[in-house]
Amino acid sequence: MKIGTYYYPEQWPRQQWERDFDNIAKLGLQIVHMAEFAWFELEPRPGEFQFDWLSHCLDLAKRRKLEVILCTPTAAPPIWLSQRFPQTLPVYEGQVRGRFGGRRHYNPLSPDFHAATRRIVQAMADLFGDHPAVIGWQIDNEYSNPFDQSEITHAAFRQWLRDKYGNISELNRAWGNQFWNTYYTDFDQVLFPPSRDPRYANPHQSLDASRFWSWAFAKYNRIQAEILKPKIGRRFLTTNFMGLHPDCDPGDMAKDLSLIAWDSYPVTGHEKEGDDQTYRIADPAHISLSHDLMASYHNRWGLMELQPGHVNWSGVPVRLYPGAIRLWIWTAFAHGSEFVTTYRFRQPRFGIELFHDGLVGTDGITPSPGGEQFAQVIAEMRKLDLSRIPPFADEPPRPRQTVGLVLDFEQLWYYLSLPPARRWNQGRWLASWYAALSRLGTQIRILRPGADWPSDLPLIVAPGVQMVDDQLMARFDAYARSGGNLVLTCRTGLMDRTGQLWEGPWASPILPLISATIDGYDSLRDDRFGKISFDGRDFSWGVWGDQVTPKAGAEVLATYSDQFYAGAAAITRVKLGKGTVSYFGAFSEQPLVDAFVESLAKFIGPGRLQSQTLPGRVQVLRRGPYRIALNYQDQPVPTPAPPSAKFLIGSSRLAPADVAVWEE
Ligand code: GAL
Repeated sequence: MKIGTYYYPEQWPRQQWERDFDNIAKLGLQIVHMAEFAWFELEPRPGEFQFDWLSHCLDLAKRRKLEVILCTPTAAPPIWLSQRFPQTLPVYEGQVRGRFGGRRHYNPLSPDFHAATRRIVQAMADLFGDHPAVIGWQIDNEYSNPFDQSEITHAAFRQWLRDKYGNISELNRAWGNQFWNTYYTDFDQVLFPPSRDPRYANPHQSLDASRFWSWAFAKYNRIQAEILKPKIGRRFLTTNFMGLHPDCDPGDMAKDLSLIAWDSYPVTGHEKEGDDQTYRIADPAHISLSHDLMASYHNRWGLMELQPGHVNWSGVPVRLYPGAIRLWIWTAFAHGSEFVTTYRFRQPRFGIELFHDGLVGTDGITPSPGGEQFAQVIAEMRKLDLSRIPPFADEPPRPRQTVGLVLDFEQLWYYLSLPPARRWNQGRWLASWYAALSRLGTQIRILRPGADWPSDLPLIVAPGVQMVDDQLMARFDAYARSGGNLVLTCRTGLMDRTGQLWEGPWASPILPLISATIDGYDSLRDDRFGKISFDGRDFSWGVWGDQVTPKAGAEVLATYSDQFYAGAAAITRVKLGKGTVSYFGAFSEQPLVDAFVESLAKFIGPGRLQSQTLPGRVQVLRRGPYRIALNYQDQPVPTPAPPSAKFLIGSSRLAPADVAVWEE
């Protein structure tokens, strides 16, 4: 894994460039990321290119054996474009046109913006596409904009709907427009909504709007990808996503990219729970869930921006726990990242992000704590023989040590558009299962409904997959019948892909699988928790609780121990074919999910699932011959390594936010 940094030469005096590149190399960094947001400096007037400074910087990098990730600068359109073609600017609700003066001030569907994009990207591709210093290209930056309200966008939405539904009665059916008689008689009457929140209007329309907006970014991205691809040879092509941020489903763009990258800012100061210090270290499940999601597309992924210290935008710029950044870099390595780069090398002296740390201070010389940790990891990595680690995509499958977690991006949209229970957070629910599964010390594969799934997984969990179709149900059924252990949770199988409930019993399609009915659900006020009894202990829940009635063959594993429905089943399990299906009916707090997964792993048994029980917030992963242990606790823990372990980094005791690497 290579390690590097963003550098914006255009933001610093030219006479400092040599020194800055020297210092980048001196820290041991191997990658420099450049040209993002530099559109004006590259094309100060329409069609007039000024590339000599970037050529020079590529040479400065090359002379120091630094590799370059080059970016297209389209996230920051220049003044001449916004002024001459105001139609390229976004239009917000109330027909307010966005203004020049920041970034992302464009409508991804604007034909004038497409033309300007083609010109700058083509010119860059022609000149730098196969530059020997360049190892890969990043298109744009963090696709995301409020839902555009221009006529251009309304028209594109209508065309997208025409292509999808063919005729207006199909759309009326899919959107349930009998409700309040919101029928349309022509596609031309339909508007693109101003936000994902239907505001008590039509949630099915909002769901399609989310799909469309992600499609719009993918379409725009394809314009750039098609220009770059023929020019860049085998270099990777990517864009940087924002984890589970809803604007873009990476799946919509994956076929146009060869590597999927994301930006990780895991400590914002808002993560504080309880009185411990872990909010300064971050939640490993949230980080790793996104890592593994990115890996799931091409088995090639990279961490494009990693938080280097304080951020300016969180409102709570907490100081990071010592070692946290080192821990995050090793976490990316353990999950198979090809590189880690950080935003940014020098802390800026001006602009909205001037309280944002860099690897060095504003002087360009003095390493920040983040800079020191980057240098530390680079030195530590030299202790590993990286040639013994196969590329992530070629790592041999380890069926008995791999479990699956179903993540369908579309579901995230519908949870945002239709939140009947305000405590339900689908990202948190996924991370909760991720956390419990990672305590088994196994690899977790993110399973997307439309993608291939590895065969022979001993355990698959599908948390809150609300919208299902025949294909997914057939997959679940076949998986369990052929000997798999499937876990479905509350709010799985409630709806079809338009987001409409079934005409039938609650969660109809899953009932034959779980051999039970779901007779009611409950959700408790934010400050209240109910109890579920499992394995002789009481556990808390509050977000959502299904009351389940088991049918033939279903075993009750947990029951509610309070509320008027005390005694009702909360968790059940049934044999199906050669396998089992468990139904986990409550969105509980973490301890019940942990305890259930632990007991399920025991039930499955070591012959099928080789697992251990790690302490919470501790991960152990394998790359090639190495094991990497990561401690996200603010307490020391014994390193979960066998006595035979030969430590390359760390020892038998993991300090808070510490890392150990060993060979067995
Ligand atoms: C990212 C963005 C960067 C920078 C950074 C600050 O989301 O891509 O350009 O603004 O945040 O933390």
